[in-house]
Amino acid sequence: MARESRISGFYRLPLTERRHAICDSTGVDFAELVESLDRGGLDSALADQIVENVIGIYGLPFGVALNARINDVDRLLPMVVEEPSVIAATSNAARIIRAAGGFRAEVTEALMTAQIQLTEVAEPDQAVQRLRDCEATLLTLGGVAVPGLVARGGGPQSIEVRDLGGGMLVVHVYLDCKDAMGANLANSVAEALGQEVARVAGGRLGLRILSNLCDRRRVRVTGWAKAEDLRMRPDDGHDSGLSGDEVIEGVIAASYFAERDPYRAATHNKGIMNGVDSVVIATGNDYRAVEAGAHAFAARSGSYKPLATWRRDGDRLRGELEMPMALGIVGGTLRIHPAARLALKLAEVSSANDLAMLAASAGLASNLSALRALATEGIQRGHMSLHARSVAAAAGAAHDEVARVASALSAIGAFDIASAKRILAELRQL
Ligand code: MEV
Repeated sequence: MARESRISGFYRLPLTERRHAICDSTGVDFAELVESLDRGGLDSALADQIVENVIGIYGLPFGVALNARINDVDRLLPMVVEEPSVIAATSNAARIIRAAGGFRAEVTEALMTAQIQLTEVAEPDQAVQRLRDCEATLLTLGGVAVPGLVARGGGPQSIEVRDLGGGMLVVHVYLDCKDAMGANLANSVAEALGQEVARVAGGRLGLRILSNLCDRRRVRVTGWAKAEDLRMRPDDGHDSGLSGDEVIEGVIAASYFAERDPYRAATHNKGIMNGVDSVVIATGNDYRAVEAGAHAFAARSGSYKPLATWRRDGDRLRGELEMPMALGIVGGTLRIHPAARLALKLAEVSSANDLAMLAASAGLASNLSALRALATEGIQRGHMSLHARSVAAAAGAAHDEVARVASALSAIGAFDIASAKRILAELRQL
């Protein structure tokens, strides 16, 4: 595991030194890191093998969030995201949570759900019973469709039959996909079982496909924060005038706001997905699947709720996040994408469950950072000072000029290209 997920002054290092620092911390070979990440890790020929009608490659920044300690182990969080401040925010909150003992994370039974739809079932109650009676046969038949998975100790584990009314039944097959995300495995099992399920139930066979609401494959993460670490400090250039205890109350009030109002819950969850998706994308996983599962899960009670909530725990703040998380560390994009493989290596991911815990921890940290800022000085100050760097670059600042132009923009509170061009011209005359 990373010797230390805290690397002092990391964000101030020039890019090459930052790469060396990550290699020193993880033991990853420098040449391999450069080779895997330059040009986004893909060339057009490789991209042409992944999807259709390729005419090029679209790059995104690849960064690393620091300071995470998950279940007592230091971890680096690889993140791919275009939004400034997400990686800094995740690192900052991970540092605060680390000071209170770090993240505690676990994964539930880790089963994917395959759905088989039946319509025109004449006697649904009897059909449900007949399907339940032949569960063992169906599981064996399902296993035949995924022999490699069964050989690795996974495969179909149980079935559930749901009566949706109007002669429509749906059979859920729950399968252990081990270290695969499992979409193809679930679809193979659903397709292999369809005819037999329809024969036993006596109905017409409909869809056979996984469910992205994989609520039998959930991740849970808890993190604490001490009041003194939550206070915005004047020496960091921030001072909301609030005590740490008042920040705790502010974050809790923000949590209640999201718990009572779906309009706020959507934005609260967006802040969580900033962290989650960035890790999911960096590691070559299907972020649309994770998003679909997250939001369906958030709405499971009939109204849309926050995925993470915050409460007082003695003199500390405690946050809890629970959400479905279907990720893989084998197959799919990972087979060919060098940057995704590098991400897994940097994070020293040992299993799909392990990766789910990393992504969820990034989500909880990202949420804490957003709520802490919103409950104190507001989000724009920190956001805009980081946004200033891309404004500076867009105004033509060279790599070594960006930081100076960005800090001058932040100092005058102007974040437009014209101001950046003016500051750049002044700088160049010095
Ligand atoms: C911005 O990407 C995310 C936030 O809007 C999240 C939130 O409001 O909690 C800051």
